[in-house]
This record gives sequence, C-alpha cells and structure tokens, in this order.
Amino acid sequence: MNNLEQTLSIIKPDAVERNLDNEIKEMFKSNGFSILKEKKIKITKTEAEQFYKVHETKPFYNDLCAYLSSGAIVVMILEKENGVLANRELMGATNPKDAEEGTIRKKYGISIDKNSVHGSDSIDNAKIEIDFFFKD
Ligand code: CMP
Repeated sequence: MNNLEQTLSIIKPDAVERNLDNEIKEMFKSNGFSILKEKKIKITKTEAEQFYKVHETKPFYNDLCAYLSSGAIVVMILEKENGVLANRELMGATNPKDAEEGTIRKKYGISIDKNSVHGSDSIDNAKIEIDFFFKD
C-alpha cells in the first residue's frame, strides 16, 4: 500500500553556515526522499517563536528561537513513503551525542541546540509546519 507522506524539514543555521546544505539535501535524496519545495530564508525571532510555539513553556524556548532566527535556514517539503517517521529516523536523536551512526545529526550535529536539522514529529504537525512556511 502506498502511503506517501509529506513532512517539513529545516536545515538549521549551524549547518547552513558551514555550507552543509547541499550535502544534507543529497542525504535526503539518496535515502529516497523527494524535495518537493525548498527555499533558503532568514526568519525573525517572532516568526521562530510562532513556529516553535509548542515549546513555549520549555526552559530552552528563548534560546531556541534566538538560534533559529540567527542565520539563514533552508526549509523543505520532503516526500517519501511513511515520510514523517522516515525523516525522524534519518535525522537521528535530538541530541547528536545520542544519535546513531549514519544519521544526519550524528554526522553533522554539534550540540542539542545546534543539531543541524529539524523535522516534523507527527503527520498533524507536518501539515501545520508545511503551511507555516509554504502557505501560498
Ligand atoms: P528540534 O527538532 O528543532 O525541536 C526543538 C528543538 O529544541 C530541538 O530540535 C533542539 O535543537 C532544541 N532543544 C534544546 N534543548 C532541548 C532539550 N532539552 N530537549 C529537547 N530539545 C531541545
């Protein structure tokens, strides 16, 4: 049964500033993802606060939003069979030091904050996050 899903991926400032965006995009493609849309942008802290609103009660919320708005990011709509979970598997654990060999965060992540990529954590959030960046 075909279960193509779309998910939102962000290549974060730490990876873009190290010019890793093309390498990371190749990793998605070689793992069977199609990149349906992509754009390189810089967002404001207010936009980051809206994007990460689910985390607003967390102690790391302010730093997280300051960080995501600190430099260029690449936002993408990825598509693959069971794409939401497949993307989370390819990214690896949130903290790069816990991420498995072969994952993006193991390979490129620097710290739990500078963990190189974000990916939607559910089908519902994927729809919300895709709309956030690609409404029109
Ligand atoms: P991301 O997948 O973008 O979702 C929220 C981000 O918060 C997460 O990646 C981490 O980069 C960041 N973060 C910082 N501290 C923590 C923490 N203690 N637990 C989870 N996420 C954290």
